[in-house]
Amino acid sequence: MLASGTGTILRALIGEALPVTVVVVDRPCLAAELSLEAGIPLEQVLRSDFGSSFDRDAYTEEVVSALEPYEVGLVAMAGFGTILGKAIHAAYPGRILNTHPALLPAFKGWHAVRDALAAGVAVTGCTVHVATPDVDEGPILAQETVAVLPGDDEASLAERIKVVERRVYPVTVRRAIERLERGEELT
Ligand code: GRF
Repeated sequence: MLASGTGTILRALIGEALPVTVVVVDRPCLAAELSLEAGIPLEQVLRSDFGSSFDRDAYTEEVVSALEPYEVGLVAMAGFGTILGKAIHAAYPGRILNTHPALLPAFKGWHAVRDALAAGVAVTGCTVHVATPDVDEGPILAQETVAVLPGDDEASLAERIKVVERRVYPVTVRRAIERLERGEELT
């Protein structure tokens, strides 16, 4: 699992007894604390640079190296705050999942919930997809809708979407693991 945030989706995966081998974080965060509490190995590949000189490819190599000893079959991102370079896709081709808080291909990017609200849509949702080097692209494995309610703000809508993600992502990750174990591709 790759995470940077509050770790509530990570908690849901652990709660569904998915075999989380290692958690990688890019900054100190609640997801890191959660992995320690749960007794899951934690790799902190901390970013020192959040500016324009950030070396994305070098950082990605560090993440790949941190994962390597664990011999994971699948990488699942849940709110990981760094866009990774091509090396991670080369190391785990077709085996990286992401959950995104919108109905892709609508509202790609970091501000998906805010953008959906600004666009005035009545329905948004979440998408689980196979990640590719192009951000928020890649084959869609699962989607579920969430209604935008009168009075919603970014926080309330994001939280309602996450309630759905906490259910949809573990189910989809489990299916992906089963397919990989049968020797099938995810796409
Ligand atoms: C989720 O909404 C996910 O789609 C987005 O980041 C959020 C992570 O939530 N990319 P949490 O940190 O697991 O609560």
